[in-house]
Amino acid sequence: GAQRDELSAIIARFETVEGATLPILHAIQSAFGFIPPAAAPIVAEKLNRSRAEIHGVVTFYHDFRSQPAGRHVLKLCRAEACQSMGAERVARLVEAGLGVTMGETTADGRVTLEPVYCLGLCAVAPAAMVDGRVVGRLDEAKAGALIAEVAP
Ligand code: FES
Repeated sequence: GAQRDELSAIIARFETVEGATLPILHAIQSAFGFIPPAAAPIVAEKLNRSRAEIHGVVTFYHDFRSQPAGRHVLKLCRAEACQSMGAERVARLVEAGLGVTMGETTADGRVTLEPVYCLGLCAVAPAAMVDGRVVGRLDEAKAGALIAEVAP
């Protein structure tokens, strides 16, 4: 089908590249917004790797999504500097406010909540990113404002 053709075309662009797995998966995600279930077998076949290996790469890297994202993507930093500044507590508040756990999308498709591992904003930890915009010093009030913004 059309999806298979598009996947094949993306893979063909990288086939001769050494270590093509990650570039191919990134290209697939930017074309589809996620890695469709059909992708792993096709990538595996073209690169002479097992499906399990490709699936392992997709699940290991937090950048890759297995499902389409919601209209808004809220990423909360879970790395060390942010953890030490209370990121965990803020994460619990945001999860409760949105009614999802980390990695999930709200039932109405409005918001995807994702972990991220250091946004380079450790100086203003805890840090977050909402639709590509960075937010620092995330406290209870700011978390509430973010929730109101993405899920009014
Ligand atoms: Fe969170 Fe660096 S650890 S921004």
